[in-house]
Formats: sequence, structure tokens, C-alpha cells
Amino acid sequence: MKQRRRTVLNRKYLAPEPKVRTRHSSTEVSPFDDLASDYDAWFEREGKPVFAIEVQALQQVLPSLSKPWVEVGVGSGRFAQALGIETGVDPSIKLLEMAKQRGITAFLGRGEQELFGEESFGTVFLIVTLCFLDRPLDVLKEAYRILVPSGKIVLGLVLKESPWGKFYQQKKKQGHRFYKYATFYRYDEIAKLLEQASFSIEQVVSTLFQEPGKVDHMETPRKGYSPSAGFTVIVAGKHGSGKLVPMSSNCPTSATGGKSEA
Ligand SMILES: C[S@@+](CC[C@H](N)C(=O)[O-])C[C@H]1O[C@@H](n2cnc3c(N)ncnc32)[C@H](O)[C@@H]1O
Repeated sequence: MKQRRRTVLNRKYLAPEPKVRTRHSSTEVSPFDDLASDYDAWFEREGKPVFAIEVQALQQVLPSLSKPWVEVGVGSGRFAQALGIETGVDPSIKLLEMAKQRGITAFLGRGEQELFGEESFGTVFLIVTLCFLDRPLDVLKEAYRILVPSGKIVLGLVLKESPWGKFYQQKKKQGHRFYKYATFYRYDEIAKLLEQASFSIEQVVSTLFQEPGKVDHMETPRKGYSPSAGFTVIVAGKHGSGKLVPMSSNCPTSATGGKSEA
């Protein structure tokens, strides 16, 4: 049975009391608590060039995004700090402590909980987090609720069909301490989830074309979906709020049916 944290110290990270109760409490211990130091240290070791490549791809989409920004699943705040995201939410107190050290306004909680008021943010980011959610659709629906009508959701994803997705799925099968918690999705599954949460895909950027374990140079991000990209950025708007990417160029119906636009 999972423990509950009750210390007063932790209350400083708590978001306003959620209006909707979920089967998870915002103060429940996260599996990421035990992995926090290892997770964060990865960015200083083999993850360093990968992180730089992913940040560069995310930076491509930032100019069009309105503030305020929040990252759901902010983790240790590395991406938030690099991208200028002011606010973060995460169920891991240990990771949140690191995010706070990096200058992020950090709230302990889960993306599916009603932590913020309706239409509070211009942009909601989920960076390498969707695959770690128990209930991704509920989190996307909650993101929709807290976004202003012209707001955007930005997903940073390792897609199931990509070489990196396959690499991590192999690790998951082997019971890797970290990836055993992940569920990877194909591009078409993500597109369907976004659609179900009333978002429309507007922009896609692909990067990390070097294979796992062989990343030795920076890359130029490419516009559009590519099944061989290790990292995919999707920007989606609330239904009826902006220009749409034609389905033919960005929404393959199978894991390998997409194409890359260089
Ligand atoms: C792989 S980490 C990504 C962290 C950060 N975005 C980054 O890229 O460094 C996934 C994060 O999702 C968080 N997470 C798991 N379930 C969540 C939920 N229901 N709501 C919000 N965050 C969640 C974990 O605690 C973890 O920090």
C-alpha cells in the first residue's frame, strides 16, 4: 500500500486544494521520488546532448505561445528552466524540490486534478510526461480546462514507433527501474487522444534522428511528423481556435505511415 506524506514542510508546495478528488492524492508518494537523483543526474551524463537537441526543438515553437506557461509533470525543472516556463506541477516532492531550486514556482499535485482555475494559462506543456501518466486523457482534458480559448498545449514525446521508443520499450520489458512505469504511444494514438480532449494539432516538429547511444552532434529540428525522430513536439490548440495542419501531412493512420518534411 502506498504511503502518504503528512509533514508540514511539504505543504509549502501544495497547490490549492483540488476541487475534484481522484484516486490519487496530491500528497501520495510518487515512484519518481526514489528515482529523483538518478533521473536528474542523467541530464549531466549521457542525456546532456539529447537534452540540448530536445530543447532546441521546443524552442522552435515558443515564439507563438502566449503566457503564462505551466508544465504538468515538471519533474526536476530542467526543461522549464531552459524554456522559461514559470510554473510547474508534479506529484514527486523530491523532483519538485529540484525544480524549486531552479526557480520554478512548483506545485505538488497531479495533472488530472483541478489545481488551477478555468482559463488560467496561455500554454500547458507536457514534456516526456504523457507516457508516464496513468490517465492521459483526463490530464489532457484538465489542460483544456485551464487554458484560455486561444491557448495551446505543447507535448514533447518519445513516440512508440521511433527508434528511441523501441529502445525504451525494450528497457521497459527488462524491468528498467524507470521505464517500467512508461506506456509509449504512436503518433496516431496521440492525435486521437488530443482529438478526444478537444484539441486540434497545429504544428509538429521532429528531432533526434541519431540513434540511442550514438548521439554526438547537434541536429536541426525538422517541420512535420517523422517516425524516425526520437523526439517529437506537437502544438495543439483548442478546437476551432486556429489554423490546422492538413491531416495528410501530419496525421498518419499507422505507426509507419507518416512522412518527414525537411
Ligand atoms: C520523465 S519525467 C519528465 C519530467 C520533466 N518534464 C522532464 O522532462 O525532465 C515524468 C514526470 O511525470 C510526472 N508525473 C507522473 N504522473 C503524473 C501526473 N499524474 N500528473 C503530473 N505529473 C505526473 C513524474 O513525477 C515525472 O516528474
